[in-house]
Amino acid sequence: MPSFFEVVAARRSARAFLARPIEPAALRSVLEAMVEAPSAGNLQAYRVILVETRETRNALAEAAHGQDFVAAAPTVLVFCADAPRSRARYGERGAALFALQDATIAASYAQLAATALGLGSCWVGAFDEARVARLLRLAAGVRPVAILALGHAAERPPRPPRRPVEALVQAEAH
Ligand SMILES: Cc1cc2nc3c(=O)[nH]c(=O)nc-3n(C[C@H](O)[C@H](O)[C@H](O)COP(=O)(O)O)c2cc1C
Repeated sequence: MPSFFEVVAARRSARAFLARPIEPAALRSVLEAMVEAPSAGNLQAYRVILVETRETRNALAEAAHGQDFVAAAPTVLVFCADAPRSRARYGERGAALFALQDATIAASYAQLAATALGLGSCWVGAFDEARVARLLRLAAGVRPVAILALGHAAERPPRPPRRPVEALVQAEAH
């Protein structure tokens, strides 16, 4: 098993996948890692729709403005913020912020776990939210916030440049 830092360094957005499905045990491990993500008040105010059928993958790719690699991925996880669940304890801050953070932290854990298992993935944020909600028949107030395309990668993209730490972190104001 690679170290955490090796996983972080290895993760890249893969946008081409083999048809080979993900082994059920590997998918289970990804989902078990996801469950360990922190969440506001430990409410885990998110829902994940597991999409494996060709039909729904095609429809998701269309809803993602024709990003066809979404359909090519054998498994697609749609992370949804469960606003009503967080609102019940935390009011509007829970609905607007905590549920969104819960869902996206969970997606990050899933993506890193997939990397650790040698799987490829790409986070997709550009999609028609209303269309995805309709397609997946999401309950009222449950908002799709990230699509994670998962599978055996058919490409190994190079590391894109990053802004340095110094550009992103500043000392506190006095
Ligand atoms: C919030 C978010 C939205 C993204 N949306 C898309 C997307 O719609 N399509 C896509 O191909 N990649 C998308 N990406 C992946 C980024 O393009 C990618 O992470 C970035 O270019 C850095 O490359 P790397 O992941 O290989 O390090 C998204 C990533 C994030 C975090």
